[in-house]
Amino acid sequence: MQIVRTLAETRAAVRALRAEKGSIGFVPTMGALHAGHRSLVQAARARCGAVAVSIFVNPTQFGPNEDFSRYPRTFAEDCEALREEEVDLLFAPEVATMYPADAVTVVRVEGLRDRLDGASRLGHFDGVATVVANLFQIVQPDAAFFGQKDAAQVAVLRRMVRDLHLPVEMAICPTVREADGLAMSSRNRYLSPEERRQALVLWRALQVAEALVKNGEQKAERLLEAMRSVFAALPDVRVDYLAVVDADTLLPVQDVRRGALLAAAAYVGTTRLIDNLLLPPEV
Ligand code: PAF
Repeated sequence: MQIVRTLAETRAAVRALRAEKGSIGFVPTMGALHAGHRSLVQAARARCGAVAVSIFVNPTQFGPNEDFSRYPRTFAEDCEALREEEVDLLFAPEVATMYPADAVTVVRVEGLRDRLDGASRLGHFDGVATVVANLFQIVQPDAAFFGQKDAAQVAVLRRMVRDLHLPVEMAICPTVREADGLAMSSRNRYLSPEERRQALVLWRALQVAEALVKNGEQKAERLLEAMRSVFAALPDVRVDYLAVVDADTLLPVQDVRRGALLAAAAYVGTTRLIDNLLLPPEV
C-alpha cells in the first residue's frame, strides 16, 4: 500500500494506478477504522480495479463544542487494517493541504444541509460536502463508497454529486452491526460498559417501528410514538431526533407506503450516536 500526503504525490499515484488497474474505487474516512469501513473497502475491491482510501479528520465538519480534538486517531492500526484489505493507495493529508490558509470556498447543499443531523450540528454538512468534493477532485475516483449508517450524509452527498455533475458513481453499502445490533461507529469506543448497554436503545426503537410496519402500520406518527416510548424507558439517554422522512429529501412523510427512512440520533452520556433503517415501498 502506497501512503501519500501531498496533492502532487496523490495525483501521480492515481494516474499510475488507473493506467495499471483501470477503475478506482474510493473510500473516504476519518480513520479509527472498524468492520464497517472494512466492508466499504471490500465493496470497492469487488467493483473496481484499484482501491484508494483517505484518512483525514476533517476539522470543518465539527462544531466548536464537538469532539474534534479527542476524535480517535489510530493511524498505525488503520494502516495495518488497510494493508490486510490489500488497499492500493492511502491518502492521508495534513489540514493545510486540504485547506490552504486563504481557502474560502464552501460547498453548501441548501435545504438538505439543515435537516436531521444538520439541524443540531449547524454547518456540519457544509464541512462534509466541502471536504468530499475536495477529496473527489484530488483522487478522481470512478466510484465512492459510503455507509448507509450516515443516511443524511448520503442524501447530502448524492445531491451534491448530482447538482455539480461530478463523474463519480455513489455506492451506498449496508450498515455493519455488532452481534447485538449496535451500529458500528468510531465513536462507540467512547462508551463506558453501562453506556454501551444503553446505546442499544437506538436499534431497539428502530426495530419496534419496523415490526409495526410489518404488521400493517403506515402512519409515521404511530411509528414515532412507538420509538419515543422505547426511549422513554431510558431517561438517561437524551434524544436528539427521531424522524420518519423521505430518504432523498430528508423531509418528513406522513405515511410510509412509498417507503421511508426511520432515523434516530441520541446522546448516550456525552456521546452522540445515530442509526437508521430504510423501509422499502409497499409492493
Ligand atoms: O463519514 C465520514 O467518515 C466523514 O463524514 C467523511 C465522509 C470521511 C468526510 O469527512
